[in-house]
Amino acid sequence: MSEFIKVGVKSDFKDLRGKAIKVHDTTVAVIRIADRIYAIQDACPHMGASLADSVVGRGQVICSWHGWAYDLETGACDMARANCAKIFPVKIEGEDVLVGPAPQEEKAPEPEPEPLIEWDPDKFLKKKPEPSEES
Ligand code: FES
Repeated sequence: MSEFIKVGVKSDFKDLRGKAIKVHDTTVAVIRIADRIYAIQDACPHMGASLADSVVGRGQVICSWHGWAYDLETGACDMARANCAKIFPVKIEGEDVLVGPAPQEEKAPEPEPEPLIEWDPDKFLKKKPEPSEES
């Protein structure tokens, strides 16, 4: 599913307000700030509060439960880099507002496994002197 879905017309979205809308299999908060319309995952990455019902301003949505703020362009959170919210692309066609799927997350490469420690008994056990060395 990679196509954009119509979520409404521009006038459906009030300034500084969000609306939770199902897009594909995800609920997205569609948020308007002046003439810009943004789409961000609705469930706050912290504990799942609806970002559509949260405070909006200065290019951010601030979660109403614990105050974590998410940038509406990037999804970056002010509290923890690991808790970014997914941003969905928005297209405006005439009056129609369309939301596309979130870009696929780049998978971080698997870390190389730690090498096993090689057991070298000579390094850990005292070596008895060779008979030729004793005399
Ligand atoms: S649920 Fe959103 S900040 Fe805690």
